[in-house]
Amino acid sequence: MVSSKLFLITKNNYKYLEASLILRPYGIRLEQVPLSKEEIQAESLEKIALHAARKAYALLKRPLVVDDSGLFVEALRGFPGPYSSYVYKTIGYEGILALLGNSGNRRACFRTALALISPPVEKLFIGETCGIISREPMGSGGFGFDPVFIPEGHGKTYAQMTTSEKNAISHRGKAFRLMASWLVRRRVYPSNRIHS
Ligand code: IMP
Repeated sequence: MVSSKLFLITKNNYKYLEASLILRPYGIRLEQVPLSKEEIQAESLEKIALHAARKAYALLKRPLVVDDSGLFVEALRGFPGPYSSYVYKTIGYEGILALLGNSGNRRACFRTALALISPPVEKLFIGETCGIISREPMGSGGFGFDPVFIPEGHGKTYAQMTTSEKNAISHRGKAFRLMASWLVRRRVYPSNRIHS
């Protein structure tokens, strides 16, 4: 059977929703595979994403993509960065607010590394959006650190935006659009050449 499906390895439904909306205009159909990505402790999102994608590909043998994202806070010298998942589970965004205290430097960047495996292709795409950490959580949309991140040039947090507003400017939006343009340019998608 042939189709033009691409599989996103994630247990995070929000990530899947965001990514599928971003890819829709490119004609790329995304399907969620709710596997835990195997997260190695590494200092770079790229290494973590690529490792997880290779492990998942060995299991599924399907064209797939892994999204590894992190929040890099300048006053905390880039922490939590690649450790964002663990930090979110343990101290949450409240912990980040507490660590920052009254610090005047609230600059932070969100970064996404996408590892795409669609043999013979193995490729990374990066997206970054910078802004500031708010003084208190605002908004109820989105997930993770969304309530405390205000992207540059916007008066509200990711959590106060609709999914499309967030996608238009987010780290994930940038990375997935880069990947989509690349796939379309290479005529990998949309097409009937991907086996599923
Ligand atoms: P991971 O990519 O799932 O490893 O994400 C690391 C941590 O950052 C998790 O706790 C996520 O909830 C959080 N995170 C990832 N992407 C976003 C985002 O777009 N907004 C807010 N938090 C995010």
